Amino acid sequence: MKVDAVRARFEQAAFDYDGLIPRLIPYYREQQDLILQLIPFGSNANIKVLDLGAGTGILSALILQAFPQANVTAFDMAENMLKICQTNLSAFRERLTLQQGNFAADDFGSGYDLVVSGLAIHHLEGAGKQQLFHKLFAAMNSGGILLIRDIVTGATPSLTEQYEQLWRKYMKDCGEDDATYFQAYLEEDIPSSVEEQTQWLAEAGFSEVGCHWRYLNFAVFGGAKK
Ligand SMILES: C[S@@+](CC[C@H](N)C(=O)[O-])C[C@H]1O[C@@H](n2cnc3c(N)ncnc32)[C@H](O)[C@@H]1O
Repeated sequence: MKVDAVRARFEQAAFDYDGLIPRLIPYYREQQDLILQLIPFGSNANIKVLDLGAGTGILSALILQAFPQANVTAFDMAENMLKICQTNLSAFRERLTLQQGNFAADDFGSGYDLVVSGLAIHHLEGAGKQQLFHKLFAAMNSGGILLIRDIVTGATPSLTEQYEQLWRKYMKDCGEDDATYFQAYLEEDIPSSVEEQTQWLAEAGFSEVGCHWRYLNFAVFGGAKK
């Protein structure tokens, strides 16, 4: 994992992230609407939540709003992302903890009822993802749920290529410089297939493992801890 390159990119990307990201990721807002709907807790549940690779706190904000008793740890390695998260989520400051660290190496706490992670885990190689899934399983309470939205590969190299071309078209149609973003993806991102990742989640101990939504090289998937 090129941690320093990834961190440097997100330190810089933090300032216009919220406006830009829906133009880079198809169905970005629909993905998070689905994530909210998949959370099995009642709206008054007193849940402890981890947002892994929280960025500017888009997922954290939705959860803090929908679950007024929830406490959320927004974990990210980019200081600028966390600064913007702190500003954007100032209305929730009593229920929000910001933690800077590298989720592949650092402690992100335990006792979580819900873990969400958006567009972050694909920065780890396959072995790193497997280790992280074990670490997440250990960090969660029984009855807990893990929901990941991420960039993935296709089931075969030619499907991956086809999805990537359609993804580039999406960015271009949104008025963005697809060549630049695609180059950064080739240099820094290490996506794995949904098939591999759901298998790794099951191997880490998760049950009810499944892919809940999929469009080209983007997916929402996860599992539960019994
Ligand atoms: C594309 S942003 C995603 C933000 C938000 N979760 C979303 O769904 O839009 C990815 C974030 O993951 C963070 N990140 C990537 N690898 C990380 C790691 N190993 N440890 C902590 N944060 C990481 C980056 O700093 C960045 O803020």
